[in-house]
Amino acid sequence: MIPIAKPLIGKEEIDAVTDVLSSGMIAQGPKVEEFEQTFSEYTGCDYGVAVNSGTAALHVALLAHGIGKGDEVITSPFSFIATANSILYTGAKPVFADIESETYNIDPEKIQEKITPKTRAILPVHLYGHPADMKAIMEIAEDNKLIVIEDACQSHGAECLGKRVGSFGTGAFSFYPTKNMTTSEGGMLTTNDKELAEKANMIRAHGSKVRYLHEMLGFNLRMTDIAAAIGLVQLGKLDGFIANRQKNAEILSTKLKSISEIATPVIRDNCTHVFHQYTIRAEKRDKLADFLKEKEIGTGVYYPIPIHKQPVYRELGYKDSLPISEKESEEVISLPVHPALSTTDLQEIVEVIKEFYAKE
Ligand SMILES: Cc1ncc(COP(=O)(O)O)c(C=O)c1O
Repeated sequence: MIPIAKPLIGKEEIDAVTDVLSSGMIAQGPKVEEFEQTFSEYTGCDYGVAVNSGTAALHVALLAHGIGKGDEVITSPFSFIATANSILYTGAKPVFADIESETYNIDPEKIQEKITPKTRAILPVHLYGHPADMKAIMEIAEDNKLIVIEDACQSHGAECLGKRVGSFGTGAFSFYPTKNMTTSEGGMLTTNDKELAEKANMIRAHGSKVRYLHEMLGFNLRMTDIAAAIGLVQLGKLDGFIANRQKNAEILSTKLKSISEIATPVIRDNCTHVFHQYTIRAEKRDKLADFLKEKEIGTGVYYPIPIHKQPVYRELGYKDSLPISEKESEEVISLPVHPALSTTDLQEIVEVIKEFYAKE
């Protein structure tokens, strides 16, 4: 089986974890601090606040900006549900703006249409490893005095206009095992704002800066030193992982371009794509997925139901019609692109897809 994702954990990660376990400090400690410094530096930010998931990073970012009941946050409906749920957790209302069909990211023109006096923030998602249109989004935010929180959970290291994602507004990253780098479960908020970082720090630790003095309502969302130790090793390998993903993506695109029934991923000018997912738009998508499965090739559909159409959002009264998201959810399919693929694996993926369309 060629899996759709494969976390690459080596001896270095195992040794780093063993060292932490032997140290006696297995909760949040010096490794977390070191990981915050190195990851935020990598992203181009002054501060990093490590938490226990990407969802927590989004939630803490929103809370640290003071977003809550009565506020609206404009976001993409074509994402993992955690993007919108993090807004709901604060009491604010997610407002969905449709996506661009080329990059599957939120369409700045559609953001404009959704701004109301209640809008406090824009929460773009850099989906699949490709940055959202940050130039247009930052301009809209500036013109309307809106906060920008970037869901960079799938896009560690991706660049837009020479800047890494997560450094335009407040960044939120996930280190879940399928991501381009992992800590097992984990996440991080990135920012250049010292006060915001301090507030986020308190929110993740029971609203407290000084032990047993609780100045605000907080949570326990801390990362452990065990996770941070894995993250530090993985961060050192991240650029290599990304280069491999980009190389694999280029091979796939070159070989799949001639098939008229599919559209290969687009990389916008002034952007780098870190290929967390290699996602194509394919005719007869579900039949193709079944055929690939039969031939022992894993695929994924991210995401088969846009967030506004999920039962939990329907129950909340969402009745939006967002045609591009709805159409893409029926056509997209992600193929394996991870760094553990061999040349033979890539060849096989291409041949099986060609075989499918030759017979269909
Ligand atoms: C776009 C997006 N946002 C948020 C999340 C949530 O991250 P986590 O699973 O680490 O909570 C994920 C991860 O699956 C994601 O892909």
